Amino acid sequence: MVETAPSRPRILTGDTPSGRLHIGHWVGSLENRVRLQGPYDCFFLIANLHAFTTRASEPQAIAQDTLEILKDWLAAGIDPERSTVVVQSEVPAITELTWHLSMLLPYSRVMRNPTLKEELEVKGLGDKYSFGFPLYAVGQCADILTFRPALVPVGEDQLAHIEMCREVARRFNHTYCGVEPKTPDAEHLEAGGLFPIPEGLVGRVGRLVGFDGAAKMSKSLGNAIYLTDTTAQIKKKVAQIYTGRVDMNAPGDTDSALFQYVRAFVSPPERVAELEDRYRRGDSIGDGHVKAEVASAIDALLAPMRERRVRLDAPGGEDLLRDLIRTHAARANEAAQETLGRVRDAMKLTFR
Ligand code: TRP
Repeated sequence: MVETAPSRPRILTGDTPSGRLHIGHWVGSLENRVRLQGPYDCFFLIANLHAFTTRASEPQAIAQDTLEILKDWLAAGIDPERSTVVVQSEVPAITELTWHLSMLLPYSRVMRNPTLKEELEVKGLGDKYSFGFPLYAVGQCADILTFRPALVPVGEDQLAHIEMCREVARRFNHTYCGVEPKTPDAEHLEAGGLFPIPEGLVGRVGRLVGFDGAAKMSKSLGNAIYLTDTTAQIKKKVAQIYTGRVDMNAPGDTDSALFQYVRAFVSPPERVAELEDRYRRGDSIGDGHVKAEVASAIDALLAPMRERRVRLDAPGGEDLLRDLIRTHAARANEAAQETLGRVRDAMKLTFR
């Protein structure tokens, strides 16, 4: 049954639907989300409106990607009995709050957001990006603050957004709720603020390398191991991790991409320590051996996800997803409406 204990602090986090999720998402944030479902009242948001910032002419693909992300989540262990799934476009309050918050952030501040700047570079958008593109960063603050969470579990690349969210929350509390500017973050609610100043929480591996050794695993770089990959696909991808080592008796480098995978996926810690020790000393341990262990650890992680997915991929699976989106939207809107009502009061927008 849905736990409604009001004492549980809230979590809000989410993903933009741009394709399937990979094991970098798992260690960066998804694992935290699954784990924190008990102690926290969790809201997990699919930012489908944000997908339109760069793909406005692909509504059908965005709709499909939205369902794909939801499937990945449920397969990964997001539990719809305990947590609330929020499809962004189902909650109009978020869009209204985006408007209000956009007045409290200087344009130059938004454009200085390092995550935003990096995206403009990586995606090669030059000066061709839509007006709405930078607005999504303000929108992300609204996604978060609509649910007034204590904690926002994200990958490392999202911390710049969390920082901006914290700034705008302080500014709202100061501008519309009379909270003194120097009030410590933890005291904003007691001081009469509407918004808590939420904390970011990065997973145990902030940024997982790609299997090609590139700094970051990502769909666009083609170096990702997906949560949906088969045993054979996993083996093939792990086999491609380059170490440059030729001899199983040569001292090996445990800072390599391969060993980042060992530390991220092999357990228990004693086994990791043993592998590191033998590899460093070149104690007749080949890359092939280490890779086999990494591949089987990843496979063991993904096996239960594959199983949970079967039901969702079967005929009728999509109906399950659509039902879930509908019932959860009602829950999400209840929480969102409460926040928006209070926002409107604070902003003197209640005339009736
Ligand atoms: N921008 C995030 C990403 O691309 C997704 C996102 C949208 C998000 N709204 C959010 C993450 C709110 C955390 C909180 O991954």
